[in-house]
Amino acid sequence: MPGEQLHIDGGETGLVLGVGADGRLHQLGLGGPERCEPDPAFPTALFPLALPTFGEEALREPALRATHADGTTGTRLVVEAMAAGTHDHGEVHEVRLRDRVAPFEVVLRWRTWPSYGLLEASSEVVNRADAPCTLHELASTSPAVPTVGAHLEHWGGGWANEWSPTVEPVGLGTRSLASAGGVRSSLHLAPLVLWSLEGPPTEEAGELLGVSVVWGGDVRIAAERTVHGQGRLIAGVQHVGAERHLGPGESFRAPSALLGWSSAGTGPLSRRLHRYVREQVVRNGARPRAIAFNNWEAMGFALDADGVGEVIDGAADLGAELFLLDDGWFGTTHPRDDDAAGLGDWDVDRRKFPDGLGPVVDRALDRGLRFGLWIEPEMVNPRSEAYEARPDLVVAEPGRERREERQQLVLDLCQPEARAQARAVVDGALALHPGISYLKWDANRDLFEAGSPALAPDRQSHLPIDRVHATLALMDEVAAAHPDVELMLCASGGGRSDLANLARFHELWTSDDTDPIDRVRLQWGASHLLPANVLGAHVTRWGQRPIAFGCAVAMSARFGFDLDPRTMTEPEREAARQAVETYRRIRTLVQQGELHRLVSPIGSPFGALAYVAEGDPAAVVFAYRLEATDLEPPSLVAPLDPDRRWVVEDATPGDPQRGEVGELAWPDAGAPSAKVWVVRAAP
Ligand code: DGJ
Repeated sequence: MPGEQLHIDGGETGLVLGVGADGRLHQLGLGGPERCEPDPAFPTALFPLALPTFGEEALREPALRATHADGTTGTRLVVEAMAAGTHDHGEVHEVRLRDRVAPFEVVLRWRTWPSYGLLEASSEVVNRADAPCTLHELASTSPAVPTVGAHLEHWGGGWANEWSPTVEPVGLGTRSLASAGGVRSSLHLAPLVLWSLEGPPTEEAGELLGVSVVWGGDVRIAAERTVHGQGRLIAGVQHVGAERHLGPGESFRAPSALLGWSSAGTGPLSRRLHRYVREQVVRNGARPRAIAFNNWEAMGFALDADGVGEVIDGAADLGAELFLLDDGWFGTTHPRDDDAAGLGDWDVDRRKFPDGLGPVVDRALDRGLRFGLWIEPEMVNPRSEAYEARPDLVVAEPGRERREERQQLVLDLCQPEARAQARAVVDGALALHPGISYLKWDANRDLFEAGSPALAPDRQSHLPIDRVHATLALMDEVAAAHPDVELMLCASGGGRSDLANLARFHELWTSDDTDPIDRVRLQWGASHLLPANVLGAHVTRWGQRPIAFGCAVAMSARFGFDLDPRTMTEPEREAARQAVETYRRIRTLVQQGELHRLVSPIGSPFGALAYVAEGDPAAVVFAYRLEATDLEPPSLVAPLDPDRRWVVEDATPGDPQRGEVGELAWPDAGAPSAKVWVVRAAP
C-alpha cells in the first residue's frame, strides 16, 4: 500500500492521491490533466494530506473532528484499502482509512463524470468502537489548492438579493462562508464557490476550481491560506450545532460535493455544469418549460373567482401556457387574507371561490393554459386549525418560546405525523382538480429552534441534518407519487437553489426581486451554476420598468409573467405577445443551448449574453443597457464561427426595428433598454 497512487480521472477535473510511507493519504494532484502528473522525484510525504483531521496537522484547519469513544480528540488516519468500480457515467473510487488507535473508520468516495468534466466527492465515518463517539465535523471534500494570486468568488445577499457576487483575494487565515437558517439556505450563500488561481475569475481565461455542496440545508465553506502559503477549500454541511453522536457501529455520511476544474475561466465550467444539471440533476431536464403566468405580484392575497378568471383570460390572450395561482386561495376558519393566518388549512376559501377551484381550473384549461397551484407544505401559522389541533408537530424546544417569522412555524418533518401532514398538503392540493399539473412549493422562514421529540435528548443536535434528510425524503415521495406533476422550487425566492433540492424539482423561482435591471445581474450570477431552463424569470411591475424591457430580460431564462393583464396598456400587451412569439422560437436555444456570458453587467452599465446551439436559429444574443452612461459600450460579438455568414434578425419585443435584418448592436443610448438578436446561418 505505501507508495501506491490513485488516479481519479474526471476529464477536465482530475485528482491524484498517494499513500505515504507511513500510510497517510496525500493529494498529489488536482485539476486539469497537466496538474495530475505529479513529479515522481517529489516525496509523497511532502504533499498535502487528502483529508486534514483535527490532531494530525496541528497548524491546519480540519475537515474532520471527532471525540472518540475513549474521550480522545485527535484523529490520525492511515489507509487500509482502496477499491474501484463503475457507475453509469464513470468510475467510482473508494479509499478506506482508519485511525491509528481508535476503532474509527473513514471512507472517502469519488464518482467521476468525465463527459461533464466533473468529480463528485463524499465522505463517511463509521464508529467501530463498542461505545459512542461524537463527530463534530466531517466535510464532504477538502481539496488542497494553490494560494498565490488566489481569489474566491461567492454569491449571496439575502431575500431579493440572491446571487449578489463577492470577489475577494484569499487572505491569510481561514475565511469561513456559511449559509444559515436551515430552510432558505441559499438566500445567505448561493450553492457555488469558485477558487480562482490567478486573480479574480474571468470568463475565458485562468484556472479555477468550482465547488457545490449537494445539500438542501446549511453548508459551510472554509477557505484556508496558511503562513506557509498552503491553501485548502473545505466544504460540507454546516457542522456548528449539528454534531453527530454515533453509537457502536453507527455511521454518518456527508452529502456529496461537486468539483469542477476549468483551465479557461468560468465560461466552460458553467457550460459543463449546465449540461450536468440538465441531464443528471433536475427532473425532466430536456422537457421544454412552459411560459408561466403567475398572479402573486398582481393580486397578492386579494383573490376572487371572477378576478382570477379575468387574469386567466388575459394570460391566454398574451400567449402564456401555464397559469399559476399563488398564495391566498385557502383557509376557512382562519382565511388566508394575509400572511398571519391560514397556513396549514388547505381547504379552498369559499368566500373567494364559492364553487371551489374547479371553475378557475376549467377556465384555464378551456383557454389552453395548464393550471398550477401554490403550496407551502412544511409550514403552519399558529392561527390555523392545523396548529390548534396539533401544536406538537412543529420544530420547538421544550419550555422555550416559539419564535415566529412571517408569523409562521416550521413543521418538524422528523416526526412521522408531521411528515404525513405535509404530504397530505401536496396530495390534497392535487386532488382538488385533475387538471392541476404544476405546484409551486414555497418555504418562507428560517429555522431558529433546534428541538425535536422525534430525537433522543442526546441527539437533539441531529435535527439540522435529519430535518433536511426528512424534507428530501418527502420530496422524493411526492416525485414518485406524482411523476407527471411539474414542481417549482421556491423559498422566498431562490432560498433553495442547491442541487439536492433541485433534483426533486423541475425549476426554481430565482428571486422575488423581479426588477429587470436587478434581474440581469441576479440571473448572471445564478447562471454560473444553473442552466436557464430552471431559472424562473417573470415580467412584473417591480422597478416600474418598461414591460418590453422586462420581457427582454425574462426571455433570457425560463420566461413568464406576473402582471395584471387588465391594467396593461395595448402597447404593453403587444410587446408581451411579441415576446411570447419570439420565446417560442428561441425556447430550445435558451433552455438547452450553450450559454456564453459576453459582457458582465456587474459594476457596469452594459450586459450581454448569448445562447448557442446546433440548429436553426443558431444563436440568440441579449444585449442590455442598464444605466444612462457616456461610456462607449464594449464590442458585441456573437460566439459563432466568424468564417461563416450569419443573418441577424432584430427580435426585440416592442421595438420598431423588430423584424428587420441588421447587425448585432447594442440598444441605442437611453436606459434601460435591450436588444434581442436572433441569429441564423445565411442560406
Ligand atoms: C414567497 C415567494 O417567493 C413569492 O413568489 C410568493 O409565492 C409568496 N411567497 C407568497 O406568499
